[in-house]
Amino acid sequence: MYDIFISYRRENGAMTARLLYDRFTDMGLNVFLDLEELSSGHFDIALYQIIEESKNVVVVLSPNSLDRCVNDGDWLRNEVVHAMQCNKNIVPFMLRGFSFPDTLPEDMKDFHTYNAVKVSPEYFDASIEKLASLLKDVAIENNEDSKPASESVIKDSFSNKYFTSEDRKEVRRLKIQRELIAGFDNPTYKYVESICDELRVLDIGSNDGDYIFGKFGSSGKLKKLVGLEYDKTAVEKANKNHGDDENFRFYQADVESDTLADTIEDAMEDIGIDSFNVINISMVLLHLDNPYRLLKTIRKYLQKDGYIIIKDIDDGFNVAYPDPDGLFAKAVKICSKCEESGFRYSGRRIFTLLEQTGYRDITLQNCGINTINMDYDQREAFFNIYFGFIIDDIRDMTEKHPEVKEYMEDYQWYKDSYEKLESMFQIKEFFFSLGFMIYLAKK
Ligand SMILES: C[S@@+](CC[C@H](N)C(=O)[O-])C[C@H]1O[C@@H](n2cnc3c(N)ncnc32)[C@H](O)[C@@H]1O
Repeated sequence: MYDIFISYRRENGAMTARLLYDRFTDMGLNVFLDLEELSSGHFDIALYQIIEESKNVVVVLSPNSLDRCVNDGDWLRNEVVHAMQCNKNIVPFMLRGFSFPDTLPEDMKDFHTYNAVKVSPEYFDASIEKLASLLKDVAIENNEDSKPASESVIKDSFSNKYFTSEDRKEVRRLKIQRELIAGFDNPTYKYVESICDELRVLDIGSNDGDYIFGKFGSSGKLKKLVGLEYDKTAVEKANKNHGDDENFRFYQADVESDTLADTIEDAMEDIGIDSFNVINISMVLLHLDNPYRLLKTIRKYLQKDGYIIIKDIDDGFNVAYPDPDGLFAKAVKICSKCEESGFRYSGRRIFTLLEQTGYRDITLQNCGINTINMDYDQREAFFNIYFGFIIDDIRDMTEKHPEVKEYMEDYQWYKDSYEKLESMFQIKEFFFSLGFMIYLAKK
C-alpha cells in the first residue's frame, strides 16, 4: 500500500517529482515514483494496480504537461483518468507557467475541479506543506529529520543525480531575484539596525519569518520579535524555524480584525516587553481593506522615536520604454485586475496615511527597481518577478469568474504576448522600472 503515487511529465516535471519523493520519503511515507522507464513507451498494467493501492495521487503539472493528453494512450492521461475512476484523493501540484489547456479529453474534463496547490517558487517549502495538508491519512508534524525550509530543499538538490540544468537555472534565477530586491531595500534595514542599540520588532504579515530574519537576524541586535500572520501553515513554519517561546514568537492573526490590539498586547506580555522600537510592514498594506486603521492601532505600541518601515508597490510608477504597441502597459493593466495581486496603486497613499496616523519624519527611501546596467540573467529574473506571476493570477480569475469574458480575453492575450514581452525586455536599450517603494518614518 502506498501513501502517495506521484504522476509527472518527464520533460519538465522530473526534478519536482523527485523533490516531492525525497521530502515525503523523509517523512516516513511510502511513495511511488516511476523513475524507471515504465511509462516511456506503454502504460504498464502494473501502474494501474499501484494507483489502486495508493491513498493519494499527486500530479505534478509543469508547463504544457497536459497538452499531449488529447492523444489516446497518453500515459499521463491514463494515470490521471485511472485515479479519477478509482476515486483517489488527487492533488494537482501546479508549477509556475502551467495552465490548463483549452480542451481536455472527455474522460479528464473534471480534472481542473480538484483542489490544487499552486507552487510559489519563493515559498516552495510552504507549497509542499500545503500539499501535505491536502493528502489523506498523512500526518504532517514537522518531523525534525525531515528536510526543512525550501532553501534547503533546493540546496540539497545540488547533490541530486536527477538534478537538471533547467532546475539549476531556476535556483540561480531565484538567487538573482532576491539579490535584486535586497539591493533595493537592504540599505533601509541596515540604517535602522545601525542606529538602534537593540531591536524589538513587530512584523506585520510575517509569512514564514524568513523575510524579517533575513533583514535583522544576523546582527545579534534582534532581541524581541512578534510576527503576525494570517496563514496558519506559514505561522507554524515561522515558529519552527525562527521561534523560541521567550523572545521570538509568531501568531496567527488577521491584522484587520477588531481584536488586533488584544492580540498585540497578549503577545507583548508573552515575550515580556511593553513597546516595540521597530515596526515592519513589507508587501502587506496592498492587501488590506483599511490600512489607516492598522497604522493607527499599531502606533500605540511603538515607542517614542521608534521606526516604522513600509515596503509596498505602486504600478503607477512602472515605466516601460520604448513600448510602441503598449504591450507592457496592457500587461500592467491586466495585473491590476487580479484580485490576488492586491491594490496595485497602494504605494502612493502611504505618505498620506502615515501623516494622517501621526507618524513623523517620513522619508521615501527608495522608489523603483530598474533595468539599467542589468545583464541578461538579471533582466530575466527581474522580468519574472513581475510578469512571470501575472499568468497564474489571471488564470485564477478566469476560473473564479468564468462568466466574465474579459478575463478570458486577457488570459488569452497574455499567453499569446508573453514571449514577445520577454524578448523585448532583453533588448539592451529597453528601460523598465518597477514601482516598489520603501518608506521610513518615526513616531
Ligand atoms: C506578499 S506576503 C509578504 C511577506 C513578507 N512580509 C515579505 O515581505 O516577504 C504578504 C503576507 O501578508 C499576509 N497577510 C495578508 N493579509 C493579512 C491580514 N489581514 N492579516 C495578517 N496577515 C496578512 C499574507 O498571508 C502574506 O503572508
